[in-house]
Amino acid sequence: MSKELAKTVGFTAMKDGTKEDYIIIKENDEKTARELPDRLIEHLTEMEKDDGAYKINRLEHVLQCATRASRDGADDDWIIAALLHDIGDVLAPFTHGQVAAEILRPFVREEVNWVVRHHGTFQMFYNKSLGEEDRTSREQFKGHPYYQSAVDFCEKWDQCSFDPEYDTETLDFFIPIIKRVFLRKPFENN
Ligand SMILES: [Fe+2]
Ligand SMILES: [Fe+2]
Repeated sequence: MSKELAKTVGFTAMKDGTKEDYIIIKENDEKTARELPDRLIEHLTEMEKDDGAYKINRLEHVLQCATRASRDGADDDWIIAALLHDIGDVLAPFTHGQVAAEILRPFVREEVNWVVRHHGTFQMFYNKSLGEEDRTSREQFKGHPYYQSAVDFCEKWDQCSFDPEYDTETLDFFIPIIKRVFLRKPFENN
């Protein structure tokens, strides 16, 4: 729909908005929420351009991660976590786990959200350029109920998913899962 035909509010400052204006905003927000799966798919597709220094690009990395999760019999929450865990990487290189976790938070259970939020710290364990203190900084979470889940996420799915020879599923394979998870009622699972 063109901008001219779409419903638009009458105000230029929020404090002057009428109830009808805010109903228009609400309807538009609901439409935006329904489009979330498509927007995520679009963003994942864009990640193909981010090829960094690894042997595969960022899209291939997350597809491989999600493929491993799926082949291990993981449920939708884990597969989506594996698929989206690096989604904020180029915009938030120092806090990308938190960005991805906040995208996921309304739709997945707490454990999965926690692992995505902290996966960067757990991944440091594999980085041999780091000093011992940084490399083992995951130890700060030792005793946390989700500590082992984060160790497993990184060991089984994330750190090993840079392999150009791996038989990785395409994005199409994951589209029904993206739709199932992101069309859930927000905050119903946590
Ligand atoms: Fe990451
Ligand atoms: Fe990753």
